[in-house]
Amino acid sequence: MIFIVITTIVFLCNFCELLNNFKTSLLKASTSAQSPKRPSFAEPIPNVTAAVGREAVLQCTIDDLDSFKVAWIKVDTETLLSYHTHVVPRDNRLKVTNSNSDRQWFLHIKNLDVSDRGFYMCQINTEPMISERGYLDVTVPPSIVEEKTSTDITVDERSKVSLRCKAAGYPTPRVIWRREDGKEINLGPMGAQKSTVPRMEGEFLNMTQVMREDMGAYLCIASNGVPPSVSKRILLQVNFQPKIRVNNQMVGAALGSDVVLGCRLEASPRPLTSWIRNDGVILLDNKKYELTEEADSYRINMQLKIRKLEIKDFGHYKCVAKNTLGDKEGFVRLIEIIPPTSVPHSTQSQEFYVPVHKGSSDASKNDSHMKKGYGIPAPNSLRDESQSLSSEEKQMSSSKEGETLDSDKPKRKQNQHPMQGSQTDSSGSCQTSISIYVILVFLLATLLFD
Ligand SMILES: *[C@@H]1O[C@H](CO)[C@@H](O)[C@H](O)[C@H]1NC(C)=O
Ligand SMILES: *[C@@H]1O[C@H](CO)[C@@H](O)[C@H](O)[C@H]1NC(C)=O
Ligand SMILES: *[C@@H]1O[C@H](CO)[C@@H](O)[C@H](O)[C@H]1NC(C)=O
Repeated sequence: MIFIVITTIVFLCNFCELLNNFKTSLLKASTSAQSPKRPSFAEPIPNVTAAVGREAVLQCTIDDLDSFKVAWIKVDTETLLSYHTHVVPRDNRLKVTNSNSDRQWFLHIKNLDVSDRGFYMCQINTEPMISERGYLDVTVPPSIVEEKTSTDITVDERSKVSLRCKAAGYPTPRVIWRREDGKEINLGPMGAQKSTVPRMEGEFLNMTQVMREDMGAYLCIASNGVPPSVSKRILLQVNFQPKIRVNNQMVGAALGSDVVLGCRLEASPRPLTSWIRNDGVILLDNKKYELTEEADSYRINMQLKIRKLEIKDFGHYKCVAKNTLGDKEGFVRLIEIIPPTSVPHSTQSQEFYVPVHKGSSDASKNDSHMKKGYGIPAPNSLRDESQSLSSEEKQMSSSKEGETLDSDKPKRKQNQHPMQGSQTDSSGSCQTSISIYVILVFLLATLLFD
């Protein structure tokens, strides 16, 4: 019984198919009677890629279209976009053109939107209908998602910093980090060494321990092959308390000359700075003093120029730097030098302010050394040796007024003799200068390694 039913169904189906085939061949026959050839696609529809906002043109190439009509259909939404030369939806971004005596049919889409992305079908109303599909890709240039991207940031030295740069776009953009000044990025200590890289890829730039050298502008650059690339500049400020370095703690100059005292400091945020004389007076820019400050990021070079030195100008000065994290002072001592040849400016000052030594208690030194070592340096050009010698061995009467600031050494006041500079130099100068030099080097070394 079941067998009979199945056989009947199979038979019926075969019959249907036969009928269908017959119908089709009839239709074919009638069509070929009117025109010998049926329409066919000459080539596949080329895929198109265009950026959002631009125009895309999809092209369908058909041979022997004859009187058949071409329709464009958006596949995913099953929307009929055009039939022959008529645009169906009310969308003035769309246009259909044809050329080459109906062989090429173009679908133009202006002002592209991401929703236009997808497959498009070119269909011909043959019986049965024939169609081909082409893909339209709509790209989006990269952009920075501000809400998910770091802004300028200030942190304390040695803290951990994570910068983020979120980029949008299609295809997904690639994010690269680099420093604006071209220096390498310090990712932080990795074991014993610190690891630096010229550039870093990814949404995050994580630095485990930022130092003052890491301060600066960081750029994240997002690109996905669709121009233009975009970048964001993030300023990283690293705060630390001031540090002062005084290169010349002892500066010698002659009466009447101009002299420049300097302090080098490092600080962030930018510190308030000042120069203070040993009597506690804060020095201001005026005819007597010229205060300058050159800053290169967190490095500052502060200078004090004192014009037309008078007796009272010799003594101690300090440079002070203060920021939110602390303050620091640096000390400079200004001493007088008697120019070897020039006539002293005033007899009174000469008598009173020429350098004197006080070192007779020290067995390793004697008067002739002292005499030789002093009064030689040219004005404004004390070498390090003479400075250390001066600081260790010499006592100037003018420095009495600056005692409060001098923390280096207790002063020995016995046996002070006024000296008359290089004119007092007597004999054995070569040997003496060698031994002086040895002592100076020794003293300098002691000072440095102290
Ligand atoms: C067109 O794009 C689609 C989807 O990306 C892809 O599957 C197809 O192979 C592409 N055709 C050509 C001719 O590149
Ligand atoms: C960087 O830090 C962020 C958050 O601070 C974290 O989500 C991310 O996984 C880190 N990335 C790397 C590579 O460590
Ligand atoms: C002092 O100097 C003289 C010559 O310059 C030298 O002969 C003498 O030994 C020195 N005295 C001491 C105590 O060094």
